[in-house]
Amino acid sequence: MKDFIDTNRFTKQELLDIVELSLAIKKCIRNGYYPPLLKDRTLGMIFQQSSTRTRVSFETAMQQLGGHAQYLGPGMIQLGGHETIGDTGKVLSKLVDIIMARVIEHDSVEKLAASCTVPVINGMSDYNHPTQEIGDICTIAEHLPQGKRLEDCKVVFVGDATQVCASLGFITTKLGMSFCHYGPKKFQLSGDHRAIMDMNCQISGGRYLVTDDRQAAMRDADFVYTDVWYGLYENETPKEERIRRFGDFQVNRELMQMGNLGCRFMHCLPASRGEEVTDEVLDSDASIAFEQAGNRLTAMRGILVYLMRGRQTYTPLQRAAAKEELDRFLGERICGGYREGSGGEKRM
Ligand code: CP
Repeated sequence: MKDFIDTNRFTKQELLDIVELSLAIKKCIRNGYYPPLLKDRTLGMIFQQSSTRTRVSFETAMQQLGGHAQYLGPGMIQLGGHETIGDTGKVLSKLVDIIMARVIEHDSVEKLAASCTVPVINGMSDYNHPTQEIGDICTIAEHLPQGKRLEDCKVVFVGDATQVCASLGFITTKLGMSFCHYGPKKFQLSGDHRAIMDMNCQISGGRYLVTDDRQAAMRDADFVYTDVWYGLYENETPKEERIRRFGDFQVNRELMQMGNLGCRFMHCLPASRGEEVTDEVLDSDASIAFEQAGNRLTAMRGILVYLMRGRQTYTPLQRAAAKEELDRFLGERICGGYREGSGGEKRM
């Protein structure tokens, strides 16, 4: 797979490989060695919307692994304005080694990937958020309840059926876990989402439930996860409307107490404190939301290295030969080719 756009296009084993690679690099760095796995590589980062975690974690990941990232923010490049997505993809493929794009409409990242010869990573669309998925599984793996494997865990998403909710449903069912979306009837995961989760469960043995029944949702919950109650950016609805729709689905102390003993709280962030989650829960010992944000960096390193594996690398001998050839050209034609006092004119 050239691109990282939708985790449903990867097998369970491939996703576990990315998670394990991410955690292995994290451990290596924590022990003091920054592996130069992306030395001299450049990542182009297209953002049609603002971002804190995705932008900073990608940029840091590239720098830590010996590469470099270019921020191409809203309005900074011709994409979708004076230039088609396809042409932008063809051009960027000649200028950088790998691309990530946070887009408004999912179709944009698909079109971009189709035109690019280098790997494209989906940095969030209106459909899904796959890099968040990898970071979330890294976080869950680091906080497994005593004696449980990933497959034994139940993850409950509370509230609006955002792209993060869909993504969590995709990855947990893919990995054979138990997933629940607990939200109001009109704002639950759709038939299309459910068809994908059905397929995932058939293969993995995972389970899922979509419900507005609080007891059923919270029974045996190991991880409780939420996201803002309104689409960020262009889909934002007024606060009174958000409270009217989702007010009964706030993650607070009472809800957390309905889960398993030691149940953890997760949030993709940014959070609207006092709406989808209380301060008390977000700042509690049960909350791993800020560790989760840190694992965005863990995930970006793993995803970048996984996608770049096997792409053109050179032996020390090839590098030495390339340097020698350039040095000879510079000496004979450029530097040595100037006569002192010739006014800098090149001798032909
Ligand atoms: N969770 C997440 O994607 O955060 P940002 O929007 O800040 O990147």
